Amino acid sequence: MEYTGYWLKYHRLSEENKSEIIIFREVKGEIIRNAVEELRTGFLGLYGRKLRMVTDIGKYQKARTGICLKLESGIPGNSFDYLNTEHYRMDINEGKCVITAGSDAGILYGVFALLRNLQLQSISNYDQFTYSEEHIPSNPLRMLNHWDNLDGSIERGYSGNSFFFRNNRILIGNRTREYARMIASVGINALTINNVNVKEKATYLITDQYYERLRQMSEIFSGYGIKLFLSINFAAPIELGGLNTADPCDNEVSGWWKEKAREIWTALPKFGGFLVKADSEGRPGPFTYGRTHAHGANMLAEAAAPYGGIVIWRCFVYNCRQDWRDQKTDRARAGYDHFMPLDGEFSENVVLQIKNGPMDFQVREPVSPLFGGLKKTNVILEVQIAQEYTGQQRHVCYLMPWFREILQFDTCARREGLTVADIISGKAYHNNNCGMAAVANTGNDPNWTGHDLAAANLYGFGRLAADTRLTAEAIAKEWILMTFGDNRKTRENVLQILMMSWPTYEKYTSPLGIGWMVKPNHHYGPDVDGYEYDRWGTYHRADHRAIGVDRTKEGTGYCLQYPEPLSFVYQDPGTCPEELILFFHRLPYDHLLSTGKTVIQHIYDTHFEGAEEAELFVTLWNELRDQIEETVYQRVLERLLLQKEHSKEWRDVINSYFYRKTGITDQYGRKIYE
Ligand code: GCU
Repeated sequence: MEYTGYWLKYHRLSEENKSEIIIFREVKGEIIRNAVEELRTGFLGLYGRKLRMVTDIGKYQKARTGICLKLESGIPGNSFDYLNTEHYRMDINEGKCVITAGSDAGILYGVFALLRNLQLQSISNYDQFTYSEEHIPSNPLRMLNHWDNLDGSIERGYSGNSFFFRNNRILIGNRTREYARMIASVGINALTINNVNVKEKATYLITDQYYERLRQMSEIFSGYGIKLFLSINFAAPIELGGLNTADPCDNEVSGWWKEKAREIWTALPKFGGFLVKADSEGRPGPFTYGRTHAHGANMLAEAAAPYGGIVIWRCFVYNCRQDWRDQKTDRARAGYDHFMPLDGEFSENVVLQIKNGPMDFQVREPVSPLFGGLKKTNVILEVQIAQEYTGQQRHVCYLMPWFREILQFDTCARREGLTVADIISGKAYHNNNCGMAAVANTGNDPNWTGHDLAAANLYGFGRLAADTRLTAEAIAKEWILMTFGDNRKTRENVLQILMMSWPTYEKYTSPLGIGWMVKPNHHYGPDVDGYEYDRWGTYHRADHRAIGVDRTKEGTGYCLQYPEPLSFVYQDPGTCPEELILFFHRLPYDHLLSTGKTVIQHIYDTHFEGAEEAELFVTLWNELRDQIEETVYQRVLERLLLQKEHSKEWRDVINSYFYRKTGITDQYGRKIYE
């Protein structure tokens, strides 16, 4: 089986490049070896040219063109502070390309950047001109979270089964290395391989049953500059250690974790640390013992600290046993209510991982008020490229435009402006362990991501986490060109599909920021009242007069969790961003939006439009019949056709639901089923 990730195909370019590869020193260490190997693979693919490697500087100087990889700690005139280790600089002059970096990982990133630039032809036949590029990753941590179970299934996995586990065993093979290579090429430097819901056999990952295989795996990943982390079970001292408590303030418990940490890092010297889902959706945590999340996280952090380990603690904590009749409890408030009072109490090697919005990866949500709220705590922004609520990799939904919006969102935490990107870089409040994490969208399907176009989300997430200034469009262009080669029509049509796909998905699914309206449990397909009378705190409260949740100060008060002037902006339906208006307000169906449309007409219009746009994707793809490899062409076509049909289902279910509730007809007399 050919496992090569799509964007690492290195399609042949028409022009020549006569480089030889030159290294100033002996090639030492896995990362450098992998970097050199990548250059070789790249040049062979792009130019059909076998690179020669020499270590003699004299030969390099004599060569007409060449690539030089050079380690240099601290480039004069630059202060890279804590990001120092992963930066690179690329200088092209008189036929020579010099990649200088502060670490092996920096060299690897420089190599991938050179190969990318060559493909994008921003640099081509480089003896002709001068070029310089310098890159410092925007975020220290750029992480993927796999929700893989040890039996081989994947929670919210839409591209086959796990390539890390099967039948409670750890899989290591070509695919492991290919994956490491693929994600390193976009700058990922950390990953967890097991589900955040750590149960049963997964609890035993931190025992000697698994250490040897984990060590082998961590070596492969660290050869690409990637640290392996594990999700752990907070109740492990009971389940593994036979203690009768997991109370973080109990000496025996903290002693157990210290000993466990010593054991883990002895077996896995390159281990990164723990990811913890505690007191959330049935998982154990410190609340059982009347302790706070700071007690829980700090106890683990103390155990991990001697080894430079970190503890990533998730803020996805809410009451999942709510009564739908209760209009006071608001799930959206929960993260802030639990974690804000603890700001400043967490140890230096604890990072709070916060989902982008206060609910759960809906197609549109406000940015969590914890961004900008927390000032004395390391934070990670968690997004989901596994498209749980955005079409499950059967629908195309390119999420980078959404993530860009989130990153650029001004939290108003400072008068001069403070974006989410500023905060998660760690720079805003001088925090070291910050960054971005995505719930991964890969599995053992031959194309990795089920939908071929979903690979743009994996590529895009890595690129964006490494450089938050990149636009969604620029990233999409890179991915298209590297994936499909250089064909004008392909570039145009795929770009159009990708860039339209998130707004289109939003149009035909739940309207105006209210979210949910999906079938319970598996979350695929429309069911307006699917969660309405359930315990999960996800209500739209639609009746025949109005829809939406009042989260103003007269309602649940959620909007007061934001600083001024944001809280004012959200408080008033006149200033609240309309794409979120039903998230913050309960409004009558004839409420006029700024477009001059009523809420109900907006619902009808967007649903008709969304389904039409999904149909357009099929037309655009059909035009590429002769440009795209047959299997890929067919596979994508099949999914686009399914999306087209399914978007109509969404359109009709939503439109009929609201027509039946309100009795208000569509202004344009289009077909709405009674
Ligand atoms: C969502 C998702 C769960 C997951 C949870 C989490 O609720 O549906 O499968 O476990 O998020 O992020 O922990």
